Amino acid sequence: MNLRITTLPGDGIGPEVTAQAVRVLAEVARGFGHQLQIDKKEIGGEALTKFGNPLPDVTIQSCLASQAVLLGAVGAPAFDHNPRELRPEAGLLRIRKELGAFANLRPAVFYPALAACSPLREEVVRGTDILIVRELLGGLYFGEPRAIEGADDARDTLHPRHALNTMRYSEPEIERVARVAFTLARGRRRRVLSVDKANVLECSRLWREVVTRIGADYPDVQLAHMYVDSAAMMLVLKPAQFDVILTENMFGDILSDQAGGVVGALGLLASASIGGPVGLYEPVHGSAPDIAGKGIANPLGAILSVAMMLRHTFQLSSEAACIETSVMAALQAGLRTADLARGSERSISTDAMGEKIAEYVRAAAAVKTSVAS
Ligand code: IPM
Ligand code: MG
Repeated sequence: MNLRITTLPGDGIGPEVTAQAVRVLAEVARGFGHQLQIDKKEIGGEALTKFGNPLPDVTIQSCLASQAVLLGAVGAPAFDHNPRELRPEAGLLRIRKELGAFANLRPAVFYPALAACSPLREEVVRGTDILIVRELLGGLYFGEPRAIEGADDARDTLHPRHALNTMRYSEPEIERVARVAFTLARGRRRRVLSVDKANVLECSRLWREVVTRIGADYPDVQLAHMYVDSAAMMLVLKPAQFDVILTENMFGDILSDQAGGVVGALGLLASASIGGPVGLYEPVHGSAPDIAGKGIANPLGAILSVAMMLRHTFQLSSEAACIETSVMAALQAGLRTADLARGSERSISTDAMGEKIAEYVRAAAAVKTSVAS
């Protein structure tokens, strides 16, 4: 198979982790007999520096011409005071929109080998395997109108400034992401928890109504609803009870970081943003400017994002599983990047971790090929 991919390494640790993800992808391609065609483009702070635009047209064109996009991270402190449209994050939000990626899948899985990394007791967190399905193109992130209005002068107390954002959801927007969640639940434990704030927000009341209606089309999937505050608490108290969590954009942003904290492995969290013609795959951890360039970032989130790409865009589930089992094997063998090392555990570099995973993949692919022949 020919795999046509655009990579957007971006800012901070993005380039370092993307390089390792591409290295592992190349190993998979070699081992399983696929051709790779990779086009590297700019996004975020890097693109702002080069082109004065966090998402140049050439980047959009390349992404739209490929089958999948692998993104590292965006965000750099140098641009913190820029107007919204000229911040690195604006590039990320726009590429999601340009690709029509309305469903953001964020798995949070507890790895027994990393029990020491979770802040929770092992008996609480053991068995945690959550898939957050976050709506990605609606709600407060994109709602209009939005503005900061009023006098520029903070001393003008007669006309204090005010700010406004709009939370807006249409029925079709809720419907399409709900269908993704129900469909994915069928490949798991067949439970969907829809998270909202229906006791306060109109958007959430519509959300609950529409999700309930769509749920009737999936009678084999058990649907429940929970308010977001309560879900945040249960996520810490009983994380193992969750299967698929379906929620709107902002709640999903918050709960997915929380879920990462619960399993104690933010550096391992991968994501897929799907629904449009081209899937977007990225680690959840962000650009981490404080450790950028030091060679200590954890590449596993980016590597596991490649696994999600192979599964969701290319339907190559054996290849995806090969990466996932390689990551698990590496963790079981005690390999750790600095963020995962506890007590006396030795840590290895970003590059060394990527090399190790590639080695595991090579070995697994060799076994597979010799069994097949
Ligand atoms: C995420 C990030 C982004 C978001 C930021 C960087 C715009 O926090 O992917 O979760 O809020 O969606
Ligand atoms: Mg976030």
